[in-house]
Amino acid sequence: MKIKNICCIGAGYVGGPTMAVIAQKCPNVNVTVVDINEKRIKQWNDPDVEKIPIYEPGLSEIVKEARGRNLFFSTDVDKAIDEADMIFISVNTPTKTYGIGKGMAADLKWIELCARQIAEVSKNDKIVIEKSTLPVRTAAALRDILDSTGNGVKYQILSNPEFLAEGTAVEDLRNPDRVLIGGDIETEEGREAMEALVNIYATWVPREKILTTNVWSSELSKLTANAFLAQRVSSINAMSELCEKTGADINEVSKAIGMDSRIGPKFLKASVGFGGSCFQKDILNLVYIARTFNLNEVADYWEQVIIMNDHQKRRFAANMVQTMYNTVAGKKIAILGWAFKKDTNDTRESAAIYVADYLLNEQAEIMVYDPKVTEEQIYSDLDYLGTRSGDANRQAVTVVNSPYEACEDAHAIAVLTEWDEFKELDWQKLYDKMLKPAFLFDGRRLLEPKTKKEIGFEFYAIGN
Ligand code: NAD
Ligand code: UGA
Repeated sequence: MKIKNICCIGAGYVGGPTMAVIAQKCPNVNVTVVDINEKRIKQWNDPDVEKIPIYEPGLSEIVKEARGRNLFFSTDVDKAIDEADMIFISVNTPTKTYGIGKGMAADLKWIELCARQIAEVSKNDKIVIEKSTLPVRTAAALRDILDSTGNGVKYQILSNPEFLAEGTAVEDLRNPDRVLIGGDIETEEGREAMEALVNIYATWVPREKILTTNVWSSELSKLTANAFLAQRVSSINAMSELCEKTGADINEVSKAIGMDSRIGPKFLKASVGFGGSCFQKDILNLVYIARTFNLNEVADYWEQVIIMNDHQKRRFAANMVQTMYNTVAGKKIAILGWAFKKDTNDTRESAAIYVADYLLNEQAEIMVYDPKVTEEQIYSDLDYLGTRSGDANRQAVTVVNSPYEACEDAHAIAVLTEWDEFKELDWQKLYDKMLKPAFLFDGRRLLEPKTKKEIGFEFYAIGN
């Protein structure tokens, strides 16, 4: 089966970069990315490619090359569905904020809307691909909805979870550790659909890295991968607290254990806590699924990863207050970094939001500098927590365009994102601008401690 037209529903952090790379690598396939968010589509179509809505190293160059050739961004969802042979569903699946499963289960309302729209619009057979991260067995629900019209259109449902990490999305897509494709391996049509998708990826991914499984294994592998990755961060963060009490150094411990080839060196960096749109939501979802099967030990085991992460964020902020003589009321604190990790403008579930909220509750004044995050986003993140009014957030938090401005008359600096540029700052200049004693809290183990202490900073780093 030769695929000519691909439609991707959802022009977000996954849909945008993933389709840009497919379009670049497969110039003979037309790729249309659609979204109901008009502003987002307008930004994807901005003549100035630097203004596309998602910041990822290398992405704007690909968009520049492929957009208008075989990569299109549109709000006309029906048209793109109608024309497509293959439809990726890449919409958001956040934690439910209401009703049954509130705070735990994935909210599948956008997925269901997509399925209903596909069922309504389609006139010829389609391959429908779950690109979003979904609870295991969602494909069964999709099948019910797609088949409900009884109009004779046949669908093949595949699961093709995405493993890219933000900040390295383009590199991860170009050179993935593996591509996972789950489908109906029992039937000829199922195998043909899987082969059609394998052929798309095989344009640039070696075949041995393209793994095909049954659809349930594929769905569950995505949740499992995120749970294992997050669990490593919580494990190392748990040890960071023990290091602080014992004189051990978490970077040395990470290195020592990571050299064991069975453990490996990656994802062992202690931090102020993991953020991002997926780790927390996917583990909560896993915990919820386990509980629905009455697997309470399984649920408790994975829930601990989240409990540890919440503790890590809280204890970092609490330590700041304690170190600064048990009060930060009326004190100015400069937060360097708001994104949940470097090289992205995404702030979803960023530890910075929670640390700032904690300090605001202690009546601190906050100055924020992040190289890629907008002022509007920072206020919206704080407002979303609902801890205080929007006015109160705007009164207590100031967003600035330079780290030096953030540190003017500050009592303390908290480094909360590991942006490379923070390593290169003129730390003497920052110190000179601050009130004394000048406290510096490194939530990322980014800064070299010796030189900071020599300048005169009261220096604290996680896990040391
Ligand atoms: P996102 O919020 O950035 O993008 C989702 C987009 O879908 C939004 O722009 C939204 O307007 C659009 N949308 C929602 N319903 C729609 C509908 N009915 N029709 C058209 N458009 C619709 O989300 P994201 O970060 O791209 O994540 C998407 C999925 O991919 C999630 O399930 C997530 O768990 C998964 N995932 C994300 C990452 C990541 O790094 N962000 C990595 C792997 C997997
Ligand atoms: C993560 C996974 O790495 C991707 O494989 C997956 O596709 C994605 O989730 C998803 O499903 O959304 P992402 O959240 O974009 O990707 O970024 P990560 O690099 O995993 O970082 C997540 C958080 O963990 C960040 O806050 C990061 O700072 C933190 N982290 C990561 C640490 O604190 N220490 C580490 O050693 C690694």
